[in-house]
Amino acid sequence: MNQKIGIGLLGLGTVGAGVANIVNSPEGRNPLVSNIRIARIAVRDLNRVRSIKVDPSIITNDPFEVVKDPNVEVVVEAIGGIEPAKSLIMLAINHGKSVVTANKAVVARYGKEISDAANAAGVYVLIEAAVGGGIPIIEPLKQSLGGNKIKKVTGIINGTTNYILTEMAKGEAKYEDVLNEAKKLGYAEADPSADVNGDDAADKIAILSGLAFGGGIDREAIPTKGINNLESKDINYSRQLGYEVKLLAVAEYIEKKAQENNLHSLALRVEPTLLPKDHPLSAVNGVNNAILIEGDPIGEVMFYGPGAGAGPTASAVVADILNIVGIKLMQKEEGACLDPLLSSISWRNCILANTRDISQKNYIRLITADNPGVIGKIGNILGKNQVSIESIVQFDSNNAKAEIIVITHKVSKGKINDSLAEIENMKEVLNVASHLGCL
Ligand code: NAP
Ligand code: HSE
Repeated sequence: MNQKIGIGLLGLGTVGAGVANIVNSPEGRNPLVSNIRIARIAVRDLNRVRSIKVDPSIITNDPFEVVKDPNVEVVVEAIGGIEPAKSLIMLAINHGKSVVTANKAVVARYGKEISDAANAAGVYVLIEAAVGGGIPIIEPLKQSLGGNKIKKVTGIINGTTNYILTEMAKGEAKYEDVLNEAKKLGYAEADPSADVNGDDAADKIAILSGLAFGGGIDREAIPTKGINNLESKDINYSRQLGYEVKLLAVAEYIEKKAQENNLHSLALRVEPTLLPKDHPLSAVNGVNNAILIEGDPIGEVMFYGPGAGAGPTASAVVADILNIVGIKLMQKEEGACLDPLLSSISWRNCILANTRDISQKNYIRLITADNPGVIGKIGNILGKNQVSIESIVQFDSNNAKAEIIVITHKVSKGKINDSLAEIENMKEVLNVASHLGCL
């Protein structure tokens, strides 16, 4: 088939340029890559000097013009942010055009509105690049794992923060320097605060949760803590205790609400978490991401690979384009209809469980006076609140101060928060220096 399908590329930054590089060098790739033609490109700054050569006649700074252009059959949104990205996606759908997007911020907040509109218009909105960079995880959740009841999704799903944590764990790297390096390498968001404060990972776990459990939840209500306040001291102590610290995103099926029809509660969270050194996710380093899925009957399956950057992300975007191009070519020949497995549906109503009821192990670092009986008092408060201690260690003692690390057994956030409020009020406790999750 020599027919070309025209794509409109919105954005020619890290991801857009990566896509153009693949389309411009089809040799050795799936033959369908030769059926893609970049018909139009939108950028913000027409005068920017670019590493990639493009025909100046197809480039504009009006992305709406690209979406409406009759030569554009598929819209590839690689601009980022909420607006104008969301309006451009909706405009494409309203013009009967399928969309490929890497934009987790839009999909996490407006996924239902977008997929309802796409299903009504009979077009696709494919999002493989929105989570996990180059790792195929969206289509496996939609298709290959479709026969499973998914119980839990646990992921390292932000490349920038995993890169920073890996460098910090080596010892000498400064947080700011490593973040700047991640920006240069094209891993970080245009506003990297979304990476380091956990918002990017929260967007991604909201998307994975929607696919895994069949219904969306309120994105803004996901308890989210980033690595921006994490001290290298906690990484060092954790390592001495046999753990690695990773920014973990977790979505877990809790229960079907007995009193309400078809309402299912889920526990979601994003926070720096201690992982035992022999846990499969603790070996995921640098820009790599990994997603561990627990399902019935499959058991555990882990997806691993580069989680950000031009090449890996473009790999995922182009895979989505190829799916649409293949179907479009078939439609042109035979009038085939949409592939239901590529389309997105939600089939259950989900809500977030009360954060106080979410259970996990905890790592707590306390700065206290170095007096006799302090550890005993802390133990009493934890015991009174039914918090069981796995280990308690006094790490450092100078200037009459002690640093006490407590690792608890699994307990609800409610009980641990109540305990910490009491511990903070002890006259011997100077402060609760950190509180992290632990697997
Ligand atoms: P980027 O490097 O900042 O590129 C953004 C591109 O969009 C630039 O070419 C910019 O034009 C263009 N643009 C911005 N506003 C525009 C507007 N109003 N009209 C027309 N063009 C506009 O961003 P990126 O890293 O490629 O990320 C793009 C999207 O992919 C984001 O949603 C991001 O979250 C997602 N993503 C990124 C990665 C990654 O590793 N970078 C991985 C997965 C997903 P100029 O070039 O003229 O400034
Ligand atoms: N800023 C994101 C990250 C890009 O570092 O993971 C990939 O989604």
